[in-house]
Amino acid sequence: MEQKRLALITGGTSGIGMGVAKALAATCDLALAYAGNHDRAKAAAETLAGTESKVILFPRHLGGYHDASLLYQDVVSGFGKHPEILVNSAGRIRDGFFLQTDFSAHEQLIQEHLLVTMALSQLALKSMYGKRYGRIVNFSSISGTYAKRGQVNYAAVKAGIIGFTRTLALEVAHRGITVNALAPGLVRTPMTAGIVQYLENAGRKEIAKHIPAGFIGEPEDIGPLAAFLCSDHARYITGAIIPVDGGRSLGDTGI
Ligand SMILES: NC(=O)c1ccc[n+]([C@@H]2O[C@H](COP(=O)([O-])OP(=O)(O)OC[C@H]3O[C@@H](n4cnc5c(N)ncnc54)[C@H](OP(=O)(O)O)[C@@H]3O)[C@@H](O)[C@H]2O)c1
Repeated sequence: MEQKRLALITGGTSGIGMGVAKALAATCDLALAYAGNHDRAKAAAETLAGTESKVILFPRHLGGYHDASLLYQDVVSGFGKHPEILVNSAGRIRDGFFLQTDFSAHEQLIQEHLLVTMALSQLALKSMYGKRYGRIVNFSSISGTYAKRGQVNYAAVKAGIIGFTRTLALEVAHRGITVNALAPGLVRTPMTAGIVQYLENAGRKEIAKHIPAGFIGEPEDIGPLAAFLCSDHARYITGAIIPVDGGRSLGDTGI
């Protein structure tokens, strides 16, 4: 029997990462990395238990190269093989006005989103390079391109992920490795619970004012696209930054 590909998904136990895990479950074994919410991770593993995938949970707070490297070693020993698919979805927000935010919050955000994405990509690429096959999907955001007050550090990392994705894609394309990023708008996850509740309380008109599609995205609106980018069918797509935002980035200037 042909061996399933192994996908390492950081943040794979919640929100968007979990949406990607569900979409990949039919075709891949899954290494789901998370920071420390064990109840949520257990629930995610139970949801995936009915699938044919082998699923292993890897709790580890990722704050830089050292943590990423320990996680990567654990994944390789847990499955006895290297991941051919890497989805970098882990991360939080630390919003606040620039001048009022302690600089350590900016440093942490850059480490957790950008440096961990870079570190895991470098670790996984060594094996992908040899195999002449690999898929990397990163998570940028609409905030990587469009400004929103209070999101200086988040905008910086999400813009950084765009530059990283496009440049890395160029460097590794000749080895059968693709590197792409999704740039979601608002998606209903634990991370966005506050803003989602605010918009839903405000009503449909308020939602439609911000999101042309008129509704808030779900992880299921992201997962299948990420899974497609991770598939053999997507071999000719690399360096793409794909908005998934119900039209929010179209820039409607109104009247
Ligand atoms: N939701 C949106 O509207 C939206 C829009 C654009 C972009 N994004 C991006 O999409 C990605 C996923 O967001 P989400 O909304 O799905 O978030 P989420 O539901 O809060 O899930 C975050 C996941 O990442 C893990 N995680 C967070 N920080 C970590 C760390 N330092 N080390 C290891 N694991 C860590 C969490 O683990 P624990 O559960 O153990 O804490 C959890 O599994 C993020 O990169 C986010 O910036 C989200």
